[in-house]
Amino acid sequence: MGRPRILVTGASGQLGFELARLLPAVGDVVVADRERLDLADPDAIVAAVRGARPHLIVNAAAYTAVDRAETEGDLAMAVNGTAPGIFAEEAKRQGAVLIHYSTDYVFDGARRTPYDEEAPTAPLNTYGASKLAGERAIAAAGRDALVFRTSWVYGLRGANFLLTMRRLAAEREELRVVADQIGVPNWCRALAEATVRVAAPGCAALAERAGLYHLSSTGEASWHEFACAIVGDVPRPRIVPITTAEYPTPARRPAYGVLATAKFERTFGFALPPWRDALARCLASPAEPPPAAS
Ligand SMILES: NC(=O)c1ccc[n+]([C@@H]2O[C@H](COP(=O)([O-])OP(=O)(O)OC[C@H]3O[C@@H](n4cnc5c(N)ncnc54)[C@H](OP(=O)(O)O)[C@@H]3O)[C@@H](O)[C@H]2O)c1
Repeated sequence: MGRPRILVTGASGQLGFELARLLPAVGDVVVADRERLDLADPDAIVAAVRGARPHLIVNAAAYTAVDRAETEGDLAMAVNGTAPGIFAEEAKRQGAVLIHYSTDYVFDGARRTPYDEEAPTAPLNTYGASKLAGERAIAAAGRDALVFRTSWVYGLRGANFLLTMRRLAAEREELRVVADQIGVPNWCRALAEATVRVAAPGCAALAERAGLYHLSSTGEASWHEFACAIVGDVPRPRIVPITTAEYPTPARRPAYGVLATAKFERTFGFALPPWRDALARCLASPAEPPPAAS
């Protein structure tokens, strides 16, 4: 087979933007952004996949508003729970491979040691439940899909913790940041680079490695430690550690979400960088243009 045709969703998002930029190294990319394809519309997904006839589908689109999902559960479930299964069914029908992303929020965070792929899931919030439903819908389709669970995605564009901390650091004398939730920050570009590396050998090799993987930088941090690393060693602002109880949110979050990445490393032969190294690379990279207005 020549260069694969790759359908990428979510190209205005953090990860999808990087994928749309990097995947042309391994194939011909067709972008299906929200204007062209609403993932809440099952018929539109079927039409988009049949129209594009991809060899590889990379679904980076998701409903990611964790707190809003508590009041928009149907929409979150349509985009995160139902749509991935339709992609998987259509991929099967066309002999294509699907790459999809999920989250550490499928776990309840009661552990204090990293979660592997076999660990029991028990989402605490609607977003996590919708993403777990997506994983299950893909598994039910039963073929040639790779699901990469990741955590705490950030970058220099879009809406994320890094940009929020930078903005608040410029505005305030003091930041109060949760210190009792532990996870791993992941730069969206490092995730996209890993996806490209995984896809490079071609769709047949990908299909042989179908399955569920934890894809994450190594190490761990609290949101407070992540904030300190983002803001850097400057006298202002003071970054004060607080508890989750002091920062109530509509959605409950797991207290611990570190993902064990041994299966990914064994299967694909490489690891993502430690989170502090990825953050340093991100902070040293040129500023990104803002997302195009939709
Ligand atoms: N962000 C995190 O901290 C995090 C953590 C763990 C796992 N993940 C997973 O990683 C993947 C990538 O996340 P991300 O951080 O890159 O997300 P993101 O920046 O929020 O981007 C989400 C993308 O999905 C699109 N989208 C949302 N609803 C849609 C719909 N109904 N139809 C079509 N497109 C729609 C958005 O389009 P618009 O720009 O038009 O809204 C955007 O392009 C997702 O699977 C997510 O669940 C993320």
